[in-house]
Amino acid sequence: MAFHALLVDEADGTRTATVQECTVDDLPEGDVEVQVLYSSLNYKDGLAVTGEGQIIRAPLPFVPGIDLVGEVTASQAAAYAPGDLVIQTGYGLGENYWGGYAQRQRLQAKHLVPLPSALTPQEAMVIGTAGFTAMLSVMALEHAGVTPDRGEVVVTGASGGVGSTAIALLASLGYTAVASTGSDDAQPYLTALGAHRLIPRDDLGSGPNRPLDSARWAGGVDSVGAETLAAILSQTDRRGAVAACGLAGGPSLNTTVFPFILRGVTLAGIDSNTSPQEERRRAWKRLATDLPHEALERMLYDVVALADVPEASRTILNGGVRGRVVVDVQAG
Ligand SMILES: NC(=O)c1ccc[n+]([C@@H]2O[C@H](COP(=O)([O-])OP(=O)(O)OC[C@H]3O[C@@H](n4cnc5c(N)ncnc54)[C@H](OP(=O)(O)O)[C@@H]3O)[C@@H](O)[C@H]2O)c1
Repeated sequence: MAFHALLVDEADGTRTATVQECTVDDLPEGDVEVQVLYSSLNYKDGLAVTGEGQIIRAPLPFVPGIDLVGEVTASQAAAYAPGDLVIQTGYGLGENYWGGYAQRQRLQAKHLVPLPSALTPQEAMVIGTAGFTAMLSVMALEHAGVTPDRGEVVVTGASGGVGSTAIALLASLGYTAVASTGSDDAQPYLTALGAHRLIPRDDLGSGPNRPLDSARWAGGVDSVGAETLAAILSQTDRRGAVAACGLAGGPSLNTTVFPFILRGVTLAGIDSNTSPQEERRRAWKRLATDLPHEALERMLYDVVALADVPEASRTILNGGVRGRVVVDVQAG
């Protein structure tokens, strides 16, 4: 049976991304076949689709898309049967393995997580890799012993996909979440998601005032990196923890050891791509229970069809997207 997929290819040095007709014989090997219902568009996908970044690490033609949710149509794996709804985020999807921008896909059972029954397929992709990363970040703070009674937790890049989900999760778990944002009009949105107060992006963005500053934060979820992360570390209280999950402001980190050796601060690295199965399942279960439905309904997202992904990719790279982009893969 023929279906549509967005294939990235190259001819005469020019990268193209076009929707083409494929058959299951075109699909890579895998023990679970799915009908893909939704995918999402992340910055990384924008780089893969346009070819502006070295994201694809497999031969062309290639199907990008780092997130997908789908219904199993055939399975050689005991863990899954036709009709099951499954999620895959990361594990090389859309980078090493053909990804979510195809109406059918063959996947590996060891990379899949069952869709929690409390989430619809579309909601799972509103969450996507960004929300999953936010959950892993909150779990890292919990693991380091940051409890709600310890004080404020700062979230940077707060109006983005990771940041907004982190705000909603922290608030629902009883933490006092402080949103650091550069968006002038984000106040109503972030407050509705549960932010206790907002601080301007520049407050942290100009870097640490001194190697060890007055303690302001019990913890942090940082999707910005660079000077912002260095500033948070210098202001984190004794035994606090900061989850470093992004680089929206840059990849560098110029800090000192003082927060670590004088305050026992933990710097927790978050890599959603290689998160192990057991942690993945726990995180998705927690997203289904700890992310309030009202917050999920309030989250900003657009839905685009498969054919719109190339244009949406250019928009996301130009900074023109607010919130998440869900791809309705069956819409063709
Ligand atoms: N570790 C992982 O596994 C993982 C997984 C997913 C994403 N990430 C990374 O996490 C980061 C956030 O991802 P996302 O999906 O939330 O992206 P996003 O939706 O584009 O949000 C990023 C947010 O960062 C802020 N921002 C943008 N440019 C900035 C700049 N130059 N300096 C400071 N802040 C800036 C903006 O928020 P405000 O307007 O509110 O300031 C923006 O909404 C990205 O770097 C992404 O690559 C990592």
